[in-house]
Amino acid sequence: MDKTVLITGAASGIGNACARLLLERGADVVGFDPQMEKMRETLGQHTNLQFISGDVSVENDCINAVATAIENFGKLDGLIHCGAAHSSARWDELDPEEMNKILAINVTGSFLIARAAAQQMKKQGKGSIVLTTSASVLFGVTGGNGQGGPAYVSSKGAVLALTRSLARGLGPDGIRVNAVSPGITDTPMVAGYTDEQKTAMQQRFPLGRFAKPEEIAEGAIYLISDKASFMTGENMHINGGSNFGG
Ligand SMILES: NC(=O)c1ccc[n+]([C@@H]2O[C@H](COP(=O)([O-])OP(=O)(O)OC[C@H]3O[C@@H](n4cnc5c(N)ncnc54)[C@H](O)[C@@H]3O)[C@@H](O)[C@H]2O)c1
Repeated sequence: MDKTVLITGAASGIGNACARLLLERGADVVGFDPQMEKMRETLGQHTNLQFISGDVSVENDCINAVATAIENFGKLDGLIHCGAAHSSARWDELDPEEMNKILAINVTGSFLIARAAAQQMKKQGKGSIVLTTSASVLFGVTGGNGQGGPAYVSSKGAVLALTRSLARGLGPDGIRVNAVSPGITDTPMVAGYTDEQKTAMQQRFPLGRFAKPEEIAEGAIYLISDKASFMTGENMHINGGSNFGG
C-alpha cells in the first residue's frame, strides 16, 4: 500500500495489528504510543517505520506525531487512531477525576490527533481518518470486573458523534472520517474480565468467540484505503454478530 499512515496505540492490541499488517503491505508507518519500548519490541526495525512516544490528550504530542510522518516520509495519507484508556468503575464508584481523565484521553485526544492529521491532509487535498468507538456504546455496559463502565462507554459514544461532525467539516477538503466499532477483542484492554464473564459473552455472540486484533485492523485498513473512497461519517461494526439480542 503506497500510503503513509499514523497509528496511535501502536504498542498493543488493535493498533499494533494495524501497524504489523500495514508494514507487511509496504506502507510507511508512524507508531505513536506512550509505551515506546513495547512498540520497539513488538514491531522491530524497518526502513518504513518510525516511532514517537506521546499522549494523544496533549496537543503538542499530536502535532509532533504528524511532523514525524512529514519529516520521514514527506506526507500523511491516513490516521488510524486506536490509542485509548479504559475504565471499569461502576456509576457509584466513578470519581470525577477518573471521568475527566478518560474523557480527556478518549474524546479530547481523538479530536486533537484528528485535527493535527487533518491540518496536514488539508494541505495535501485529501486524506482518511479512522477513529475507534466501541460496540459497548449500543449496550450501555455498566462496568465492574474489567468491563467498560460509564466513563469508558460515554467517551466512546462521544467519539461516534465526533466522527460524524468531523466527516461533515472535513469532507469539503477531501478528507474522509470514519469509525470502527469493535466488539470484544482479545487484547490487554479486556484482560480484567472473569472467566465466567468471558464464557457468557462468547455464548451470546453468534460466532461464539472474541475478535482477534487483526480482524478489527482489517476494517480500519479498508477504511483508510482508496477502496473506501466514497465512505465517510460511517461506523463500521466488527463484532461477530454481538449486536443481535441483549
Ligand atoms: N479490546 C476490545 O475489546 C475493544 C472493544 C471495543 C473498542 N476497543 C477500542 O479499540 C482501541 C484499541 O484498543 P485495544 O483493545 O487494542 O487496547 P490495548 O490496551 O491493547 O491498546 C491501547 C493502546 O493505547 C495506548 N494508549 C493509552 N493511552 C494513550 C494515550 N493517552 N495516548 C496515546 N496512546 C495511548 C496504550 O499504551 C496501548 O498501547 C481502543 O480505542 C479501544 O477503546 C477495544
